[in-house]
Amino acid sequence: MINKGSGKIGRYLTAEVIDPYMSMVNHTGSYTGTRSEAFNRYRTSSRSAETWRIAGERPSQNSKFAKRKFLPNKLKQYPVPTPLRECIMENDYIEDNYPVLTEEVTFENYTQKFDTLIHLEEIQMEIDIREFDLERVCMRRIGEYLGLKVPGLAEGRPSVLIGDRVMLTDPGDPDGPCYEGCVHELLKDEVLMKFNKTFQDYYTGKDYDAMFTFNRAPVRRCHQSAEFAVQLGENVLFPTVLMPKMSQLRSLSQSATVTPLHTSPSKSQQKRINYYNKSLNARQRAAVTRILEGQCRPVPYILFGPPGTGKTVTVVESILQILHKIPSSRVLACTPSNSAADLIAERIHESGLVKTTDMVRLNARNRNLEVISECLKPYCLNGDDLDTASHYRIVVCTCVSAGVLYSLGIKAGHFTHVIIDEAGQATEPECLISICLIGDETGQIVLAGDPMQLGAVLRSKYSKRIWPRIIISRKVDEQTFV
Ligand SMILES: Nc1ncnc2c1ncn2[C@@H]1O[C@H](COP(=O)(O)OP(=O)(O)O)[C@@H](O)[C@H]1O
Ligand SMILES: [Mg+2]
Repeated sequence: MINKGSGKIGRYLTAEVIDPYMSMVNHTGSYTGTRSEAFNRYRTSSRSAETWRIAGERPSQNSKFAKRKFLPNKLKQYPVPTPLRECIMENDYIEDNYPVLTEEVTFENYTQKFDTLIHLEEIQMEIDIREFDLERVCMRRIGEYLGLKVPGLAEGRPSVLIGDRVMLTDPGDPDGPCYEGCVHELLKDEVLMKFNKTFQDYYTGKDYDAMFTFNRAPVRRCHQSAEFAVQLGENVLFPTVLMPKMSQLRSLSQSATVTPLHTSPSKSQQKRINYYNKSLNARQRAAVTRILEGQCRPVPYILFGPPGTGKTVTVVESILQILHKIPSSRVLACTPSNSAADLIAERIHESGLVKTTDMVRLNARNRNLEVISECLKPYCLNGDDLDTASHYRIVVCTCVSAGVLYSLGIKAGHFTHVIIDEAGQATEPECLISICLIGDETGQIVLAGDPMQLGAVLRSKYSKRIWPRIIISRKVDEQTFV
């Protein structure tokens, strides 16, 4: 262990003493079966009486997360309704009990429809994770932790993150307590956990059945945004009329006229903008000008096209122009994946037009910061100082991570521009997490993506069939605002 100033760098070393007789006993564990077995196991266990759960020690109390502040979490729980779960377990004809699923999505049924679809996704996630149940496995002591070998951990099967929980039950005592292990560290094929202190101290190698769980926060954030979205108004979710506003760019609106919306911005208008990226073609320049003018606010501006057609380049140019041309602006740039968010932040950095005080790359608490490129590291914020995220003019994060901004007390309307790249790969509620931060009539929403590509990964067969397509496809279909 090296102590350098206030920081510590250390590495766990473990030595294994192998007893030839004991090694004949298989302690590694293997997954207990197939997907249909997972469903049966899920069905049986969710019917049994509420188990007595003994909480483990969370990483916040004693680990590298110790200095991180836990965000005040004002998110509601949004539990899965029991009748809906029963319906799935009984293979009932679900549409009979939930007719909203067969209805076309409208402004009136918006929250109810999305809530039901998100619940169905969550039920399927609960079923799918039971595929990785481990039977009769024991743990070994590694430093202050108990380590459980998890085959497939490196491939993300199951996907376990620091802060997740693993539930242990005694196979010989089905009515006994369920011990909750909080994951503090991840090795290649082993999770290091902390349990309730008594369990942790007195554990002597007994076998337990292990069940993995997933973090419900993203699901709950989707419910929250589906609930809040209706406050954005019908004209954002289902636009039908455009009510042009004055251009946001003073230099373009000296004549106090509104550019006709069916025409491209004139050459003279475009000439007045000094484009940083000189290789932009006429259509990309027109898109940047339109976004800067923001005359259709808050109706989303859609940028669509096949891969490689320069959408991200246009998004990056727009962000840079907004930063420099609209002094009161604050931009939230989101994408469904961390890699796409890194790409936007890298391209903004490479322009050489932003300082580290202008832009922040906001990361989820459990993101491994080692995978982030060196040039982005000065822009990164983690759990230590998230509360300063609101001080930056440009915030770049994933659609789901934008949810932490709610917990920081940032109010709707804090951002003047919300730009989502690769929007076609996110579900509608995921996009709405950031869109809801626009909040009022003065904000500009930009959605860039390719509606022809495969959309978000959906698990439930019900939501695969009926999940409404993301706003971007809906609007492109209607050919309203392209
Ligand atoms: N007008 C342009 N002239 C030359 N190269 C361009 C132009 N627009 C985009 N590119 C290049 O094409 C590639 C793909 O652009 P990108 O914005 O990532 O596309 P998309 O986001 O639509 O997949 C990038 O290398 C970019 O530099
Ligand atoms: Mg792109």
